[in-house]
Amino acid sequence: MVDDIIKMIRIDMGRFGAYSAAKSPEVVARKLGIPEEDIIKLDANENPYGCSAKVRKKLAEYPYYYIYPDSNQTELRESLSQYVGLGTEYLVAGNGSDELIDLLLRILLCPGDEVIVNVPTFDMYRFSTEVCRGKVVNVLRRKDFTVDVAAVKAAITEKTRLIFLTSPNNPTGTLVPEKDILELLRTGLPVVVDEAYYEFCGQSVVKLVPQYRNLIVLRTFSKWAGIAGLRVGYGIFTPDLAHVLIKVKPPYNINLAAQVAVQESIKDSEYLLGTVKKMTEERSRLFGKLQKLDFLKPVPTQANFILCEVLRGDAKSIQDELEKLGILIRYYNTPLLNNYIRISAGKPAQTDRIIAALEKIGGKANG
Ligand SMILES: Cc1ncc(COP(=O)(O)O)c(C=O)c1O
Repeated sequence: MVDDIIKMIRIDMGRFGAYSAAKSPEVVARKLGIPEEDIIKLDANENPYGCSAKVRKKLAEYPYYYIYPDSNQTELRESLSQYVGLGTEYLVAGNGSDELIDLLLRILLCPGDEVIVNVPTFDMYRFSTEVCRGKVVNVLRRKDFTVDVAAVKAAITEKTRLIFLTSPNNPTGTLVPEKDILELLRTGLPVVVDEAYYEFCGQSVVKLVPQYRNLIVLRTFSKWAGIAGLRVGYGIFTPDLAHVLIKVKPPYNINLAAQVAVQESIKDSEYLLGTVKKMTEERSRLFGKLQKLDFLKPVPTQANFILCEVLRGDAKSIQDELEKLGILIRYYNTPLLNNYIRISAGKPAQTDRIIAALEKIGGKANG
């Protein structure tokens, strides 16, 4: 008999590294003693314009929240099919694309199997691989953060089960050219192309899914559609893989509020894509202003955020100073991203506030 539950936990979980999630604005607001609406949240690449008025109205009026959602996602997949342009048999929705990453790894990995990840990148690939007892094989990106395709191919072993590509990549904003994706598809291994930021760059390989059974594309409603809090992502898979995922997913993984919001968002996509346009315009304006600050070096981006190298001063101190003013950003102090910050594109007034704050912080660093 083991008398302590902690001793029964898998040994590898003892050294498991948690995902470093964005801070909640309500928690920061309480700490600072200011109203939540005064927080400027530029740390998780959300759409600051929020969902559309039509989505909010539909959510308020929907009468059937007392009923479980359809585990087969029939209507939801029909709506997604209209948005994506492929049949419902290619589509599965997840509780955020995070859940689809986890489900894929659950069905593909046996203990010790390898997953190739191009670092620096989104940490959930590492997180879910480790939870599923797989081994993460990190392949370094080139100096300009593009994927080193030759290095990825060299890292393949008989244990490789999946290659993760992210286009545009988080946190660098770098695209993966289609020819690189095609070269990796030719290895025959499953290749995930995570297009979480697709709407901000307009470049996609979804059209290739019917041709390549090993291509998986992941997308989300968190970034462009302003419903990150409702948690909906979706994947485009070869139909028999989609079928397996529908079977193994938790039956009611998409709650009805999320389903209603997605269906209405797709109907109102013209409005929502208008806010995406505003965000990409703001990204350009923010980039120009960051370039003028002599202590930061912004990295060219195709997503709704900008990674900056901190040339003078310390990334964590900059994040701390901004947080004291109610402005939230991300910082990185890892061997691969040593002294960097990431700022999401927001509304024009938010750009003005953060730039004014950074000018003061930069002035202090100089002085
Ligand atoms: C590259 C990438 N993939 C997936 C996700 C997760 O999105 P979701 O909110 O759909 O789980 C994110 C969120 O930051 C991301 O940056």
